[in-house]
Amino acid sequence: MKLTAKTAVEALRAAGEPTRLRILALLHREELAVMELSQILDQSQPRVSRHLKLLTEAGLVERFPDGAWMFYRLVSHGPRRALLDETLRLIQPDDPELALDLGRLETVRAGRLNLAADYFAQNASRWDELRSLYTAENEVEAAILAAAGPGPFKRLVDLGSGTGRMLTLLGQRAELSIGLDLSQQMLNIARQQTREAGLGHCELRHGDIFATRLPDSFADLVVVHQVLHYLSDPAAAVAEAGRLVQPGGRLLIVDFAPHRLEFLREAHRHRRLGFSDTEIARWLAAAGLAPADPVTLPAKDDHGLTVKIWTAARASASSRSAA
Ligand SMILES: C[S@@+](CC[C@H](N)C(=O)[O-])C[C@H]1O[C@@H](n2cnc3c(N)ncnc32)[C@H](O)[C@@H]1O
Repeated sequence: MKLTAKTAVEALRAAGEPTRLRILALLHREELAVMELSQILDQSQPRVSRHLKLLTEAGLVERFPDGAWMFYRLVSHGPRRALLDETLRLIQPDDPELALDLGRLETVRAGRLNLAADYFAQNASRWDELRSLYTAENEVEAAILAAAGPGPFKRLVDLGSGTGRMLTLLGQRAELSIGLDLSQQMLNIARQQTREAGLGHCELRHGDIFATRLPDSFADLVVVHQVLHYLSDPAAAVAEAGRLVQPGGRLLIVDFAPHRLEFLREAHRHRRLGFSDTEIARWLAAAGLAPADPVTLPAKDDHGLTVKIWTAARASASSRSAA
């Protein structure tokens, strides 16, 4: 859909002011809290909030609360996003004022990483305990790479991206990768991990797997890795993930087979103790996807966890018309 002349003028007017252009250039890098923007721009929070309000009203920026904080990000798609991408692309990369802002953004990132590192350190031993219950990590990763296929993918979406493990594993095969997670701590770690892996095209967004706010048929590869067992309504998450899969594209779900390790509910907040093939196949079919044979990575022993990889494809337009 295109803009009307009136809405184009509104969008250009909103973007056409020095501080607001600086804000847009920063949000083009990543989503930011008002407090962080105010720190980078060296302007008061009420002043920054007024600019953000105008940008939000013009449909260039969207806002979302996370606890007591309010975050902002660029709209993810559509003509306004195209307008912003093109405008920002035309600005000299070494523009002195924007370069200063980016320098201050680095300081904000460093502060966040310290917090994230603390959090990671506190939880790492619990995650190691969990990992020790199932088969070797490299075997799981090799099986995921095989199940995803060689690509190249135009758009990869990783739902519940956590520390960005799937993005770093599969991101090299994708032109654009988007990771969504509810936890800012996880997003910060994932931003760092993907940057270190040289994946400049990776976008980490705050988002809910139940309402991703991404358009239908957005991606040719959607991944949900070790997330479903935490969720209140895994079927709804599979439906939302399936909605994002474009014709010819693929959904990959990795989780556990049904098990009896009750302690995981208490110790690791698991809500579901695994999923059966039939249950997942039913959800995939309801999302209009054709399930392939699941891959099974058996537990190391009787007390371990069996990892399952369920893949499903959406029929391409040509195969549908041939049928
Ligand atoms: C065990 S971690 C798995 C992360 C990653 N997929 C991996 O395998 O390394 C589960 C992740 O799901 C995220 N999560 C939980 N509920 C979510 C929701 N409703 N929407 C988005 N992410 C969610 C958590 O914040 C956490 O980062």
